Amino acid sequence: MTIDNPKTPTVALGTWAWGDSGETGNGYFGSSLTQAGLEEVADKAHAAGFTLWDTAIVYGMGRSETVLGEVLKRYARSDYQLSTKFTPQAAGTGDDPVADMLEQSLARLGTDYIDLYWIHNPADVARWTPHLIPLLKSGKVKHVGVSNHNLSEIELANQILGEAGFRVEAIQNHYSLLYRSSEDAGILDYCRNHGILFFAYMVLEQGALSGKYSPENPLPEGSNRAETYNGMLPQLKALTDKLASIGQSQGAAAPDVATAWAIAKGTTPIIGVTKPDHVEGLVRAGSITLTADEIAELEALADAANVNTRGWWEQEM
Ligand SMILES: NC(=O)c1ccc[n+]([C@@H]2O[C@H](COP(=O)([O-])OP(=O)(O)OC[C@H]3O[C@@H](n4cnc5c(N)ncnc54)[C@H](OP(=O)(O)O)[C@@H]3O)[C@@H](O)[C@H]2O)c1
Repeated sequence: MTIDNPKTPTVALGTWAWGDSGETGNGYFGSSLTQAGLEEVADKAHAAGFTLWDTAIVYGMGRSETVLGEVLKRYARSDYQLSTKFTPQAAGTGDDPVADMLEQSLARLGTDYIDLYWIHNPADVARWTPHLIPLLKSGKVKHVGVSNHNLSEIELANQILGEAGFRVEAIQNHYSLLYRSSEDAGILDYCRNHGILFFAYMVLEQGALSGKYSPENPLPEGSNRAETYNGMLPQLKALTDKLASIGQSQGAAAPDVATAWAIAKGTTPIIGVTKPDHVEGLVRAGSITLTADEIAELEALADAANVNTRGWWEQEM
């Protein structure tokens, strides 16, 4: 895929957490977030050349898109790229629920086009994929992709778009050291062979692989991610310690190495950034070189952790 301007970055920025209220412990992530803090995140990201922002209408039911739109007002529209999604489960009852949802996203984001528009999940591939075609033709959507689709669903979407002269240009699936189902199912190879970008989400397992959370310092009490990950933290220690020690040898930290791993596997990680220093980590991640032995060692430790981090919204691949 060619995202018009500039070239596709090594890392995209995720804003699911931006849909929370910003109060500690509240919402899916429970991090403390302020508009000023997120503006600082965006300024650092743009200065470093990270300008592709991923969101979805369902992240805080509009809140993530609204906050992102507010924060990005400080830049010219041509200086950043927007990635947002049609979520079938939130479809309205009009004639074209995809076009309707896109209009809502455009209004919240304060723009008249989306660089990369996704069908969020494969609830009904044959029903929803064709709705992307008029959006591509009108230019309201520049590129399209599918998320959480398995290989046969990707092929079906590609066939539907192909009949109109378009194609699936990108895939967005959960892919981390702990969750490699898209690789096991051949989706990474498929993307490589067909020139399709693979965007990896939850590379840091929502912070559980950052190394900063432990049984003594768990994920924010009351948040959904705490419920998912806090019980696993003891099993993740050997892996996060290894990420940290590899990082130390290159002047980097554990999450930078987890991100570098995803880049080394040929993917474009979408990293959920909530603090300015996360952007510094992304810059470091881009210059880390991992040897084949280090990659194998990390993957072996990930397997040994023996945890299943499949999201409740995901299917087996
Ligand atoms: N298509 C889909 O179905 C789907 C599903 C999930 C996610 N996504 C997309 O992918 C993005 C990424 O996933 P995610 O946000 O769920 O999880 P993630 O990227 O695995 O983790 C994000 C969390 O990790 C922590 N973090 C980030 N950078 C860090 C750093 N350098 N050092 C230490 N901690 C760091 C932050 O937590 P603290 O706030 O605690 O610091 C942040 O909230 C989402 O934002 C969304 O755009 C898409």
